[in-house]
Amino acid sequence: MKLAIIGYGNVGRALARLLRQKRREFPFTITGIHTLRHGTAVDPAGLAEDPPMRPRSASIEEFLDAARAQIAVELTTLDPTSGQPAIAHIRAAFARGMHVVTANKGPIAHAFADLREEAARRSLGFRFESAVMDGAPVFNLWRYTMPGVKVLGFTGALNSTSKVVIQTMEQGGSFDEGLARARSMGITEADGAYDIEGWDSAAKTAALANVLMDARTTPQQVSTRGIARLTPARVQSLATKGKTVRLISRGRRTGSKLSLRVRAEVLDRCDILASTPGTSNIILFHTDLMGTFGTVSIDPQVEQTAYGVFSDLADLATV
Ligand SMILES: NC(=O)c1ccc[n+]([C@@H]2O[C@H](COP(=O)([O-])OP(=O)(O)OC[C@H]3O[C@@H](n4cnc5c(N)ncnc54)[C@H](OP(=O)(O)O)[C@@H]3O)[C@@H](O)[C@H]2O)c1
Repeated sequence: MKLAIIGYGNVGRALARLLRQKRREFPFTITGIHTLRHGTAVDPAGLAEDPPMRPRSASIEEFLDAARAQIAVELTTLDPTSGQPAIAHIRAAFARGMHVVTANKGPIAHAFADLREEAARRSLGFRFESAVMDGAPVFNLWRYTMPGVKVLGFTGALNSTSKVVIQTMEQGGSFDEGLARARSMGITEADGAYDIEGWDSAAKTAALANVLMDARTTPQQVSTRGIARLTPARVQSLATKGKTVRLISRGRRTGSKLSLRVRAEVLDRCDILASTPGTSNIILFHTDLMGTFGTVSIDPQVEQTAYGVFSDLADLATV
């Protein structure tokens, strides 16, 4: 199948490497790459590795028409406050009869119900496994392995940047040193404030609630407080008592009421939400038939995000 990639940064390049690695078993062809500042490359017969970039297509519509692909892969920068321009990119792809795969949580957090309905109306696939926990199964777990199980709520430690900042302060560093460390590890969003102020976690919380609990919500409706007010003194004092802090996303349905919140919570060090190593993420699902169970991703890298996109592509190729 032919792919048009919108956004060719860390994830886009890791995906291209993975597609080359698995080319024999999964014969995808990249026919277009479109970026913001680095131009556009298009060849409906298939692009070479690291193709020369030409001047940027005048519009997303012009790019998609030229690439003549079956699947658009949306990998542009997150804007957690609006989900744009990714939502417009996805709509343009649907309008051309293209399936869509994205790792961008913005559209799932802001417009999931509308996009799902638009895809269904046109009999197109719409997949987003990497949007919340890189390649670890979250949405596809529910799509394929939990028939009849209802999600009553979820609890997650889903933001790696805040974790690195807290761990740096526990080790005697400053808040800013922690943020710089997270940035050097390549795990912060393009705007690090999104991680610190809780926007990234709020977007993940809204995305989970929209997909798993049909919430039709947005990040603005998630009650959110980030870690900006945490100090090294506070974190170190908690550490002497065997405690630590994690930025926790919680969703819970009680009757007809849905509560969604993000908070820097004080946890025992041995709490399952706090005890995963390094930049690991964890999510627990609270359900009617399966009790509480979860998914853990140990030190995910960009290759795992690319794998989540790849798994969606492989899935669509078999539909
Ligand atoms: N990095 C991860 O591990 C990870 C994990 C989970 C989810 N995600 C999500 O995956 C997406 C991509 O992440 P990334 O790390 O690859 O980001 P990135 O390295 O910053 O790359 C973003 C790409 O999007 C392009 N872009 C931005 N605005 C655009 C526009 N309006 N039209 C066309 N292209 C545009 C940029 O163009 P230029 O190259 O010209 O600047 C760049 O190529 C984000 O939504 C992110 O939240 C990332």
